Amino acid sequence: MMKKPLAWLQLSVLVAAMTVAAVHSFPLTDKDLESEENMWNLYERWRAVYTVSRDLAEKKSKFEVFKANARYIHEFNKKKDVTYKLGLNKFSDMTSDEFTAKYTGALPEADDDVVDSFNILSTQPLVHGGEDAPLAWDWRDHGAVTRVKDQGKCGSCWAFSVIGSVEGINAIRTGNLLTLSEQQVLDCSSAGDCNGGVTFDAFDLIIQNGTTLDQNGSPPYYPAYVARKEQCRFDPNKPPVIKIDGKHRGNKADEQALKLGVLTQPVSVRIKSNSLEFHHYHEGVFDGPCGPQFDHAVVVVGYGETQDGVHYWIVKNSWNESWGERGYIRMLRDIEDKGGMCGIATYPMYPDMNPPAATFAAYH
Ligand SMILES: *[C@@H]1O[C@H](CO)[C@@H](O)[C@H](O)[C@H]1NC(C)=O
Ligand SMILES: *[C@@H]1O[C@H](CO)[C@@H](O)[C@H](O)[C@H]1NC(C)=O
Repeated sequence: MMKKPLAWLQLSVLVAAMTVAAVHSFPLTDKDLESEENMWNLYERWRAVYTVSRDLAEKKSKFEVFKANARYIHEFNKKKDVTYKLGLNKFSDMTSDEFTAKYTGALPEADDDVVDSFNILSTQPLVHGGEDAPLAWDWRDHGAVTRVKDQGKCGSCWAFSVIGSVEGINAIRTGNLLTLSEQQVLDCSSAGDCNGGVTFDAFDLIIQNGTTLDQNGSPPYYPAYVARKEQCRFDPNKPPVIKIDGKHRGNKADEQALKLGVLTQPVSVRIKSNSLEFHHYHEGVFDGPCGPQFDHAVVVVGYGETQDGVHYWIVKNSWNESWGERGYIRMLRDIEDKGGMCGIATYPMYPDMNPPAATFAAYH
């Protein structure tokens, strides 16, 4: 009789251990940094793991950047008073500016300071808000978040942020988690291209024309993501066509409102991500430094707090599952700056899908 619970306990400990082990980073030791030769060997090993090809001329200057980044990361990780760790990743031989130019892409919006009449605080969140709000909420545990994707060398974060939030509201309203097509948004929306896009404007395509399943969905549909803007190949007569009924800007610079928003659905947000620390985030709760301006768009899929009581947001990025915590970053929540960590609470955007309240009961 005693055997069963024990076996379960052992199993869950094992699963937990495996889960932690899966977040490995590229190893980096004092010895690697000791000499130029060791550094070069490290760089070659790193290039093999991340299959980064560089031509000879490029390699020399990239190696200099890599060395500086590796040294910085190694020193940073020796600090005791920090809540997160850095790691070498596939971006490690680029400077932060070079990286931002190629892998982000959220452009400023013409009407950034327009206040929407929509007030998230007056809506009915799906999960109890206010005093009753749960200490933690994670849409990944409630079937509203697809796998982590990879925008590649294209400033299309705006399309990934929009699609991530639409996948969320669609799953919540219909009970069906569909993997939708960023390539279709990149191809068919006039809101942007690989040089960046205006996130809020990109929702208009899905309001007017709709989007559809990604190639990797089942059945395969819109051609797979290629990190380039192509001819629009969307056929509005070929189902499924997923549309939203509207879009809203949430309350600006208000983490309490964002929390209520997250209890309602995954939320598209823009952040200031241009820092070496953000780019090399590996695990833990990120508390800056952030970049100087809004340059990246991501999706907030939940929130929680650590055993030490540190509050965080759970953020889905589009830099491959090899980045951060299997593609996610936890960012410090409830800070003094009203805009939130890296501005996360500054420009929340919510796709709206009817019918409302259809599946409320399932989440209470
Ligand atoms: C992440 O990167 C790996 C290695 O380059 C690649 O095989 C994989 O397809 C990428 N994941 C996604 C979601 O694109
Ligand atoms: C909807 O599709 C039409 C026809 O392809 C296109 O001209 C229009 O720009 C699209 N709407 C949006 C908001 O992108």
